[in-house]
Amino acid sequence: MTAQLNARGDVAVLVPAAGAGLRLGPGGPKALRLLAGEPLLVHAIRRVAAASSVRQIVVAAPAADVAAVRSLLAPIAPVTVVAGGAERQESVAIALAQVPPEIGIVLVHDAARSLTPPALIEAVAAAVRAGAPAVIPVLPVVDTIKEVDPAEIVVGTVDRAALRSVQTPQGFRHTVLAAAHAAATDPLTDDAGLVEKAGLPVTCIPGSELALKITRPLDLVLAEALLHLE
Ligand code: CTP
Ligand code: MG
Repeated sequence: MTAQLNARGDVAVLVPAAGAGLRLGPGGPKALRLLAGEPLLVHAIRRVAAASSVRQIVVAAPAADVAAVRSLLAPIAPVTVVAGGAERQESVAIALAQVPPEIGIVLVHDAARSLTPPALIEAVAAAVRAGAPAVIPVLPVVDTIKEVDPAEIVVGTVDRAALRSVQTPQGFRHTVLAAAHAAATDPLTDDAGLVEKAGLPVTCIPGSELALKITRPLDLVLAEALLHLE
């Protein structure tokens, strides 16, 4: 059944899904790879559409797959599909251009975090609504982290207590994200990094283990197991 989005919602969700998925090994663009018989992007969009304040969803698809992604998602939810760019940041900028100014909150959410619960999407949006210009879901870092030199000799041990692993969706006031992208020079792997560069505070909220990024083959195995726990 096609989900309805909230016509009075105040949130747009941009879903960069144009990556090649090289680290997942051969098999085509990651967003279209199957998890329990359905493309990762379908799993992701179903959960985004279930978040109650979402009014618009924009997917940046691989350029060659725009038509296929449109047909794939049409039965899931009303989604705008655009061709992504060469870098993730470019895909986000292209998707952002589709959001009308009257939508006050924009979330950026990787298709590869396909099992992210709707409640986390709502929690990020709520923190922006409460006044934070930028919000990121985070988890504590479990491994000890060492800094090394080019010869792989340890230079130092970073204080793990002060580190966080960052997930998506990352949430922003629309104007803040637009200004950050307009000012962007070097590509970064996350949008909050652009806001940090602009000198604005980025607020952390608790993330979810279900929001893991499916990156390597083992992550697919883990995601399939997690699906059964939902
Ligand atoms: N992405 C995108 N446009 C790009 C590159 C990445 O929209 N030019 C998206 C991916 O589709 C993914 C998210 O950004 O949903 C996070 O990227 P990542 O996990 O690195 O995915 P890929 O780039 O596809 O994987 P890899 O780096 O292994 O090739
Ligand atoms: Mg990548």
